[in-house]
Amino acid sequence: MNVKGTKSSRPVLNGDILLTQIKQLSEVGLDGSGGRTRLAVSEEEKKGRDLVVGWMKELGLDVRVDKVGNIFGILPGPSGELDNALMLGSHIDTVINAGPYDGCYGVLSGLAVARAFRESGMTPPRPLAVAAFTDEEGVRFQPDMLGSLVYVGGMSLEEGLAAADEDGITLGQALEDIGYAGSEEPGFLIPSEYLELHIEQGPRLDAEGLRIGAVEGVQGISWWRVTIGGKANHAGTTPMNLRHDAGLAAARVICSMREHTLAAGTTLAATGAIAFEPGLINVIPSKATFTVDLRDPDGEKLLLAEKALAECLEKVGRDEGVTVTSEHVASFEPVVFHPELIQKVEDAARRRGIPSMRMVSGAGHDAQMMARVCKTAMIFVPSVEGISHNPAEHTEREDLLLGAELLLDVVMDLLEN
Ligand code: HGY
Ligand code: MN
Ligand code: MN
Repeated sequence: MNVKGTKSSRPVLNGDILLTQIKQLSEVGLDGSGGRTRLAVSEEEKKGRDLVVGWMKELGLDVRVDKVGNIFGILPGPSGELDNALMLGSHIDTVINAGPYDGCYGVLSGLAVARAFRESGMTPPRPLAVAAFTDEEGVRFQPDMLGSLVYVGGMSLEEGLAAADEDGITLGQALEDIGYAGSEEPGFLIPSEYLELHIEQGPRLDAEGLRIGAVEGVQGISWWRVTIGGKANHAGTTPMNLRHDAGLAAARVICSMREHTLAAGTTLAATGAIAFEPGLINVIPSKATFTVDLRDPDGEKLLLAEKALAECLEKVGRDEGVTVTSEHVASFEPVVFHPELIQKVEDAARRRGIPSMRMVSGAGHDAQMMARVCKTAMIFVPSVEGISHNPAEHTEREDLLLGAELLLDVVMDLLEN
């Protein structure tokens, strides 16, 4: 394939190094229960950041860190300029007790593409950047995709750095503590295209026996933090009709949202975190705090789910005689990726004789933020049995390699023009 730049041999992916680095990074933050935990901007994630930065430097990439901790490794074009770059990337922070591939696979495959250029001796005709965005998971600091959201101007740097975790530590302070409060302004390098390779994290490719997903977009996400105030009382003496049971109220909300999803069809709802106070077997809970994660590929139906939640909170408050407050901690409309790039993913698979499936991502990704500023698309590879956010997350070795090969194919296709 004739790609302008210097020298001739086509870049070839070094799959062994890619798989070795995926394994090495997966061993950072092992939490003794078969998984790893590298919460955003934690000491464990710092070790992962240091490892990736070290690999970027080994490749001779120009390493830059911005003020919200996003890391970039840049392989400059012939004249060293930054404009008209092609960016690859994802994230290396994890949920608690995570699998080995979520996010890391995309960052390290981006490095594998840069390595293919280095090893072939070819300078790309325009800059190639590899990004590792801060706090994609949104577990420690909300919202999720915080680093890429600030990067594209969807949240001010000040607001992003002020996001605080449950101990009151701000993102800004945490970045200072681990030495990743960078100097670049977020958005210092706006690429022409952004490509993200990721495991599907859902069951569809695996169920269909397919190996590649050409991702058309990401469904909408709406996250809520709810606090219910009831009245502590004796579990053995208080008549049922005289209780102000914050725990029961929370349970009613969770069940009501499940009913809403069953009627709505495409809407998803989950309560991932819940806590009662005082949290004792014989005391009616005085307080319940819990999260609600709502998703739908249809923006209108996501709004209806939010309306259903609001109405449910109102009704439960009245019925149970409890106070209810809620905080909207993440709100992202569905995103559609760029048709030209989606087509290039499909074409690259076809050139290899690999059938692919067009699909919308159920999980959030940094790509949904980058789509605000440049042509963006994603490539999915299968997650066995659709398992993710779980140590049992698995993708077959040959699928990991195929995905990275395809990423390189699409990069070469884009650089050819
Ligand atoms: O929540 C998500 O979908 C992503 O994993 N942050
Ligand atoms: Mn991810
Ligand atoms: Mn994730």
